[in-house]
Amino acid sequence: MSFYITTPIYYVNAQPHLGHAYTTIAADVLARHMRQRGEDVFFLTGTDEHGEPIADAARAQGLEPQELADRNAERFKALMPRLESSNDFFIRTSDEQHKARVQQVLQRVHDNGHTYKGMYEGWYCPRCADFKVENEIAEGNRCPIHEIPLERQQEENWFFRLSAFQVALERLYAERPDFVMPKHHFNEARSFIASGLQDVSLTRARLQWGVSVPWDPGHVFYVWFDALLNYYTALGYARPGEDLTDRFWPAHYHIIGKDILKFHTVYWPALLMAAELAVPRHVFVHGFLLGSDGRKMSKSLGNVLDPFEVMDEFGTDALRFYLMRDVAFGSDGAVGMESVRARYDSELANEYGNLASRTIAMVRRYRSGALPEVATDPALAGEFDGLATQVAALLDRAEATQALELIWLRIRRLNRYVEERAPWVLAKDPESADALDQTLASLIEGIRVLSVLLHPYMPSSTQRLLDALGGSELTLDRAEFAPRGGGGTVADLAPLFPKRA
Ligand code: MSP
Repeated sequence: MSFYITTPIYYVNAQPHLGHAYTTIAADVLARHMRQRGEDVFFLTGTDEHGEPIADAARAQGLEPQELADRNAERFKALMPRLESSNDFFIRTSDEQHKARVQQVLQRVHDNGHTYKGMYEGWYCPRCADFKVENEIAEGNRCPIHEIPLERQQEENWFFRLSAFQVALERLYAERPDFVMPKHHFNEARSFIASGLQDVSLTRARLQWGVSVPWDPGHVFYVWFDALLNYYTALGYARPGEDLTDRFWPAHYHIIGKDILKFHTVYWPALLMAAELAVPRHVFVHGFLLGSDGRKMSKSLGNVLDPFEVMDEFGTDALRFYLMRDVAFGSDGAVGMESVRARYDSELANEYGNLASRTIAMVRRYRSGALPEVATDPALAGEFDGLATQVAALLDRAEATQALELIWLRIRRLNRYVEERAPWVLAKDPESADALDQTLASLIEGIRVLSVLLHPYMPSSTQRLLDALGGSELTLDRAEFAPRGGGGTVADLAPLFPKRA
């Protein structure tokens, strides 16, 4: 089966920050998991480069918009390997092929009669690049997201007849209760639609930095339409000489933050219908990472968690683990350096890292590194029954935090098993040699299974650990607790998550 997953494309007018890292990591966990299942995966991320905010930022720095975009897109591109993101392509909306395909699709929307020319006047947030409708305007005519004053703007635009899709969208939501996940965001999108859809402007007359409108070249497309279409256009040129559209369209999951819900759950499916293209299977909406004080992160409040600082101090896997673990994926949550440290010390260093180190050390000390080829403990094996299937079922629904919790309960179980069996006591008594063999074989097998399951979350440390255990395939069918220890030898392993001073 094919599995196509996307992140939002990131605005190049900001520096890469925690919000970008979060969406990327979450999508990467799902992409890696699906690859473990043998699915034909395509994972897309990239940069959103057009629109007024970029043009304004470039002007302020005395640059051409393309120069600014080139410079800043590089930072996002460089972020991907740093996060260990396994994206299959990195799209930039200033790519010529993207622009050409945007024009094709929107020309079809125009030819299908879903556009008209009209005068637009409304309250506009330059940071969102969005005209706000009545229930989106905060007190004092401010943007509810950026808290800056909205600007009154008027201009002649081409409009997209969003209102004409009211019934079709209502039907989509009635028929597909998991179109938007989690449920509270499904309800939010549905009630936005139920409150009555207004047509939206599709083009900008004043702006030049964008994709020009083929039937009215004085205009460029409103950046959100150009941006949304990245999910479609990328498949046309990500592999030179090959068109991946039939293989991967429609997307399985668009992963987005809740601030861009309306665009993805209302405009986007309507636009696709207007262009006679299939709508995505799911839009998964994650929450906001808040400052450690529970307030919106902001430099002036000094409550910002810097992903680079976390990676420098604790490593990429620790950042990935922390973000998927500490904030329930789909809800808002406070994050901060203190809780990173706490999770690192108690869970990564002690529970997982130490479990691995001490088990390997015991196999080396008591069995010269040879893994006992004996039956594993059936009672312990029983506690792993169905685990891989449950993890897969949760990740099918993008429940990344819950899946991680199920895995982690078994990490704790193995730690208790060490205490219960006390191998250091068994080692003293030659009569307990068989019991010691079984204990070591079972622990190693448990660690191996859990590391396969944890691999999407922490690709490099799990790989190091599995290599030390003599290598294990990463496919999900290898996440079954085997009835016998595999034999082979274990190698020495430097601490996966070194204790901090
Ligand atoms: N360019 C648009 C998306 C276009 S998609 C066709 C955009 N870009 S963004 O760079 O501003 O944001 C990208 C993602 O980062 C969004 O999903 C947003 O929700 C996420 N985050 C930004 N700050 C965030 C937090 N503090 N917490 C969690 N994610 C947040 O929007």
